[in-house]
Amino acid sequence: MGQNSSRQPEHPAWWRDAAIYQVYPRSFADGNGDGTGDLAGVRSRLPYLAELGVDAIWVNPWYPSPMADGGYDVADYRDVDPLFGTLEDAENLITEALAHGIRTIVDIVPNHVSAEHPWFRRALAAAPGSPERELFHFRPGRGPDGELPPNDWESEFGGCPWTRTADPDGTPGEWYLHLFATQQPDLNWAHPQVRSEHVSILRFWFDRGAAGVRIDSAALLVKDPELPDFRKGVDPHPFTDREELHEIYRSWRRIADSYPGERILVGEVWLPDAERFTRYLRRDELHTAFNFDFLARPWEPEALRECIDSTLALHAPAGAPATWVLCNHDVTRTVTRYGRRDTRFDFAAKVFGTPTDVALGLRRARAAALLSLALPGAVYLFQGEELGLPEVEDLPIDRLQDPMHLRSGGTDPGRDGCRVPLPWSGPLPPYGFSPAGTEPWLPQPEGWAALTVEAQSADPESVLSLYRAALRIRRGSPGLRGDKFEWLPGDRGVLAFRRGAEFACVVNLSPAPVVLPAHDTVLLTSRPLDGNLLPVDAAAWLRSR
Ligand code: NOJ
Repeated sequence: MGQNSSRQPEHPAWWRDAAIYQVYPRSFADGNGDGTGDLAGVRSRLPYLAELGVDAIWVNPWYPSPMADGGYDVADYRDVDPLFGTLEDAENLITEALAHGIRTIVDIVPNHVSAEHPWFRRALAAAPGSPERELFHFRPGRGPDGELPPNDWESEFGGCPWTRTADPDGTPGEWYLHLFATQQPDLNWAHPQVRSEHVSILRFWFDRGAAGVRIDSAALLVKDPELPDFRKGVDPHPFTDREELHEIYRSWRRIADSYPGERILVGEVWLPDAERFTRYLRRDELHTAFNFDFLARPWEPEALRECIDSTLALHAPAGAPATWVLCNHDVTRTVTRYGRRDTRFDFAAKVFGTPTDVALGLRRARAAALLSLALPGAVYLFQGEELGLPEVEDLPIDRLQDPMHLRSGGTDPGRDGCRVPLPWSGPLPPYGFSPAGTEPWLPQPEGWAALTVEAQSADPESVLSLYRAALRIRRGSPGLRGDKFEWLPGDRGVLAFRRGAEFACVVNLSPAPVVLPAHDTVLLTSRPLDGNLLPVDAAAWLRSR
């Protein structure tokens, strides 16, 4: 039994203030020594997660997959890829995690399937106009010979989201829609069989004890049935944030609510309009959704303050908890991003060779950790964030696997740099990720000996020690539960707020050290204080009685 067992299952709305740790199974821990992380590896490291003090894990897709998009190309939603283990391993992981007080959130991918999924194979083998093809978006091309794609949409990964098929005799045939990679055909959510299949998948994982599901690309499922050209600013968006989605998620909420315990729906909803975003969080829809606005903000006091204010103001009427996210498997790690001149995250702005000051980024990432862990709501941590890992920006080009890189013609560095296998122990790669002598699926840097879990566990000043202490304090502080939040007066360059009468958090983003507000005890700081002065790019947690 881990330390968390007292926390569950009697904590009813556990998800409202949970610390949720994202496991990218390919890169977490390699249990069978083949260089790829797997479920045996996750199971063996559950004591680590319990000691860290997280309430739940969200595990990225573990399904059978050709891995054209890191497992987001699912060939079978009710099984586990042999790379990762077996279905029984997944069931055991869910049970064993719970014995450590850790709930499991399963990643589901409703927008698209793998081109190897039996439905798509059958659709390709069937004729245009056949019922098999109606489960997807097949269309004839435009132009005299159908040689042009059916509309002018753009893929989320760049380029054209249509691929032309060949008829059985080899002549060019219809096109199919894939908002992501060619190997990820989009499902047709106007089709009742697509809907009933996903209801059954939800039940499959809830029946196996999943505490929730993370819904991939949740705002993209429904398309304008005409698949018209995209007239930006004129018509409603033809494939993002369509009204019909809300009815789908209401039906999923009824399923989640029909299970004992609180089973949650977590949406991956990237929308520029925060008000549109919170419509998914109405009481009978999703429980929570990732706060990508927070994740993308620059390390600037006004920008962060504005995001915190708008997040809290928009979530309150919906009755949904805010979430605070700094990193995930799709974005540049904060240690690297915060050390750059432009500290925002923007997919469109990613290029090779952006200079960064990692020491500066690390100071800021440590302060950002204390900021996000002190705000009201749930917090998501991406594996390796608790180790202060930087983005690996010099992976050999021929080892990159991300379709975002591959489809960009080599200009976009892609997302592999945040997916490098974790360093657990020892002075050299593979740092305990795999057995010595095994080469991990992505190479780890030579210089990570000081970043291993082993090295950081022995160092009270390490990032890992900071996260462990912060999560322990967070769990033991009643003021950090619920939604109490109040800004403290003072310098606009300083984010200082109170959570209830006893707890305060101060983050210094101003250009000079600042005097801490009145307090009785300093609970934790991201950098050593200079007397009563909080250094630049540092945060402090304070208690007053
Ligand atoms: C969002 C996931 O987080 C990302 O990794 C994936 O590539 C796309 N959805 C497509 O499934």
